[in-house]
Amino acid sequence: MKITIVAGSNHSAATSTRLAAYIQHLAMQEQHDVALLDLFRTPLPFYSPEVEGDTHPALEAFKRAMLSADAIVLATPEYHSGMSGVLKNALDHVGQDHFKNKAVLSISSSGGAVAVSSLTQMQTTVRNLHGINCPEWISIGGDQRKSFRVDASFEDIQPDIDKRIRRVVGSFLTLAEQLSGRA
Ligand SMILES: Cc1cc2nc3c(=O)[nH]c(=O)nc-3n(C[C@H](O)[C@H](O)[C@H](O)COP(=O)(O)O)c2cc1C
Repeated sequence: MKITIVAGSNHSAATSTRLAAYIQHLAMQEQHDVALLDLFRTPLPFYSPEVEGDTHPALEAFKRAMLSADAIVLATPEYHSGMSGVLKNALDHVGQDHFKNKAVLSISSSGGAVAVSSLTQMQTTVRNLHGINCPEWISIGGDQRKSFRVDASFEDIQPDIDKRIRRVVGSFLTLAEQLSGRA
């Protein structure tokens, strides 16, 4: 399957982006074709209803990757009990054509224990875009984020967190295969 992961942080050492990279690694081990779009490294212009067409090269590539994906992963830091503005702006550029009937996994990193608020908000947005929310999500909060510092290797991820991530990614991939008619 073709999977597009959108990393919605706007800083270089984001733990949510590192978690996104780990999910890319796990899905590639299962022979999936996975693109990680990091909105810090490849920023998108602000959405405006007054701008027509996809003349911005990064925006064109973003829309193409979303349209061609069989399944999508959205990653965000939890900001003020919601998703980042950077991720929301990216989602404002796309619509139901990009999401309809595709499995979508939401993942988030928070300073507090659990990133429930941003994850709930992302699932609401996905529902509006007619994507199919994976019933499970991944939250890393507080000290759990240490495993996802840029100087930590994937082998250093705490075993209990790793087990949970692998289980959720497994159920996401199963749902995605069913929805894309590959299972
Ligand atoms: C503007 C801003 C707002 C934040 N709001 C929250 C919040 O509402 N709840 C929370 O638990 N942490 C909050 N945090 C902390 C971040 O969620 C936390 O640092 C997270 O790990 C950042 O993810 P990242 O490593 O991917 O950038 C906030 C941080 C910033 C900069």
